[in-house]
Amino acid sequence: MILLTGGAGYIGTHVCIALLDAGFDVVVIDNLCNSNRAALERVEAICGRPLAFCCDDIRNEDAIYHVLRTYGVTAVIHLAGLKAVGDSNVHPMTYYDNNVVGTMRLVSAMKRADVKTLVFSSSATVYGAPAYLPLDERHPLAPTNPYGRTKLFIEEMLKDLHRSEDDWRIGILRYFNPAGAHESGLIGEDPIGVPNNLVPLVAQVAIGKRAKLRIWGDDYDTPDGTGIRDFIHVVDLAAGHLSVLRHLEQPGVFTVNLGTGSGSSVLEVVRAFEAASGRSIPYEIAERRTGDVAICCADPTFAQRTLDWKSARSLAQMCADHWHWQLMNPDGYRHV
Ligand code: NAD
Ligand code: UD1
Repeated sequence: MILLTGGAGYIGTHVCIALLDAGFDVVVIDNLCNSNRAALERVEAICGRPLAFCCDDIRNEDAIYHVLRTYGVTAVIHLAGLKAVGDSNVHPMTYYDNNVVGTMRLVSAMKRADVKTLVFSSSATVYGAPAYLPLDERHPLAPTNPYGRTKLFIEEMLKDLHRSEDDWRIGILRYFNPAGAHESGLIGEDPIGVPNNLVPLVAQVAIGKRAKLRIWGDDYDTPDGTGIRDFIHVVDLAAGHLSVLRHLEQPGVFTVNLGTGSGSSVLEVVRAFEAASGRSIPYEIAERRTGDVAICCADPTFAQRTLDWKSARSLAQMCADHWHWQLMNPDGYRHV
């Protein structure tokens, strides 16, 4: 039995499907602060199998301990966290409490229950401004905002934990830019309020919920002047978690990039989404967004070599799947 914290969220629901399809049993802990219970019902419908759900906060150590013992959990995939960069600048303590303290409580409960296999959702944001490209796992770490620092501090905490108790098996996953949705169109990203990230914003423009996209700068040192990111299909990202679980059969701690190794510019994403949706995406060029870098792209070699994992889906597929989800669920899960 695998425990997924944050399993009702965007990436978590896709990881649930990957696990259920691979024959694992799953229990989810999520306080639904950024998600909807309906998403898990859809996961069950897609997989034709039930999962267990506990609506609770990861900072509730006793609740986690209870779940670990009751369900005979053998490994935890820890996705629960707050993730909005801008919000983290305004409410840093909320982010440290939720993400860092939450992880401390989770680890305490795991120690008590003697469950010592942990996969942690970190982020490429821990690298900060690239000193060189593509970003490999040895690149210096210098996040530029509180959200990124919560991820860095948790990474360091988990490495210290392993130094003190070497029977832990810990995988730290640095996600690049997840996008897309499950091919069924039943689950996908359902941002509350204005989306923070590019692809959900583009999707909302395509469906007419927003008049136009604002492209934050076209004067970067890139071929078309717009920023370049490593967009990874969320289903490929979810599959990476299965490879990581297999790799954790040996004790140890490792850190791995989950990205494609190939970047797409903002304009390339706009064009690909127009092709996938058959809709036009009006846009205007605006000032650069503070904190943005020109290019952020993964070196995925380590993942390929050690996990035997690499992404398979193209940008076109990502846009097609994202569009399918958006079209089938114009108001996300909120109409259910
Ligand atoms: P999400 O907000 O859709 O999912 C996170 C889930 O965690 C939500 O369902 C939320 O309700 C839950 N949650 C938050 N705090 C909680 C708490 N204290 N107790 C219980 N549940 C709690 O986000 P996502 O995009 O699925 O991201 C999952 C993880 O991946 C996060 O840790 C995020 O920081 C990380 N990540 C995401 C991205 C991205 O672009 N989506 C990139 C890099 C890393
Ligand atoms: C953002 C976060 C980063 C986080 C990542 C994935 C910031 C500064 N960084 O990075 O910490 O890990 O999301 O969740 O917020 N863009 C537009 N117009 C828009 C939105 C985005 O032009 O309305 C551009 C951006 O300038 C960027 C690209 O699209 O060049 C991707 O943006 P976004 O999806 O926010 O991801 P990141 O910038 O990589």
